[in-house]
Amino acid sequence: MKKVNIGLLGLGNVGRGVWNIVEENKDELKKRSGYEINISKILVKDIDKQREVDVPKEILTTDFNKILEDDSIDIVVEVIGGIEPSVDYMIRSMKKKKHVVTANKMAIATKGSTLLRTSREEGVMLFYEGSVGGGIPIINGLNENLVANKIEEVIGIINGTTNYILSKMTREKVSFEEALKEAQEKGYAEADPTSDVEAFDPMYKLCILSSLAFDNVVNISYIHREGITNIKPIDIEYARELGYVIKLLGIAKDVDGELELRVHPTMVPANHPLANVNDSFNAVLIKGNAVGELMLYGRGAGELPTGSAVVGDIVSILRNRDNPLYYSKFEEATIPHKIRDINKVQCEYYIRMTVKDKPGVLGEICSIFGKNNVSMLSVIQKGRREECVSLVFITHNTLEGNIRKSMDKVSLSNDVVKVENVIRIENLGLQ
Ligand code: HSE
Repeated sequence: MKKVNIGLLGLGNVGRGVWNIVEENKDELKKRSGYEINISKILVKDIDKQREVDVPKEILTTDFNKILEDDSIDIVVEVIGGIEPSVDYMIRSMKKKKHVVTANKMAIATKGSTLLRTSREEGVMLFYEGSVGGGIPIINGLNENLVANKIEEVIGIINGTTNYILSKMTREKVSFEEALKEAQEKGYAEADPTSDVEAFDPMYKLCILSSLAFDNVVNISYIHREGITNIKPIDIEYARELGYVIKLLGIAKDVDGELELRVHPTMVPANHPLANVNDSFNAVLIKGNAVGELMLYGRGAGELPTGSAVVGDIVSILRNRDNPLYYSKFEEATIPHKIRDINKVQCEYYIRMTVKDKPGVLGEICSIFGKNNVSMLSVIQKGRREECVSLVFITHNTLEGNIRKSMDKVSLSNDVVKVENVIRIENLGLQ
């Protein structure tokens, strides 16, 4: 039996998962890869730290060079996260002809071109299945199984923390702050939750998915991003009354040859499968011109699900290391798309505002909408004979630019106390 030595960079959550899977599934991995997989060195910050995993101390090191200079190590697995030193470690490893597996979305989303170019130049493989959707086989799905398709849309719930928070707000009618507190207590949300609740994490993931789906190099600056901090229980309640559920969606669409890229809270029809993806689960809906619509669903984070993706990548490398065709598949993206301006996005809109309750206010607002070519589907007023009331408008399918122009004008009215929220409504397929 052949043996392969692995250098593992990082022994946090995902590193622990990788170690445990390699131990637990040793026999299956041997049969399926043809190799005995041996994690021979692990880079950590502190060798003496108490760990929830039983790893022999002698294989731990705090010096990356011990892994880099070890010629018996063929594959480096990077699960440290962040940009530096991870990207530097991956590039140096590939230059030493070591294959690399990573679960690092930030590194792939922002430095993916450099990393993939290095892998091609050095004739090594770089796999990153764990970077999006944890254990869901979405990267390989797009790269391999769906390669026959022109992809038209990729729409997903690709952040488990915010999905947990929104699910809890929906089910238990609690505030964003309360739901976030519980997500932090359960270990889903970090002490500083910015990356999740302001939607940076799903923006990186959408960047990776859209680059793959549309043979493009998508820069994160192309993606319109809005987090969930402004979602109030009242928005969730209105959504429910109107037959929708609010989800944080990553949306990438090819619209007439232009790429529409956005991450934001979205109203999804309550009977759509995405509306029923709850708690910390992830799901990605893909529309291809041959396959039609399909949805992948599963655990988008966690040590074992992400470890499953990482160890799967190790096996892919072992199965393909003698196949030169596999190396050449890392082509530079060749089809530059135009990026669709956010003002050209078209959907229905939910607009909630607080207004003074007096004659003529509704007429004034509707006239502003009309002048900007925004047509109303319905209007709901809650509260009566109060100084201020809540008005909710649902528009017909309309251009975002027209909504923005209307909102600018509406905000100037003395009778409008505040435009509280504008949420896009996606009347999705697969129903
Ligand atoms: N923080 C991410 C999430 C998991 O909540 O989905 C890691 O990508």
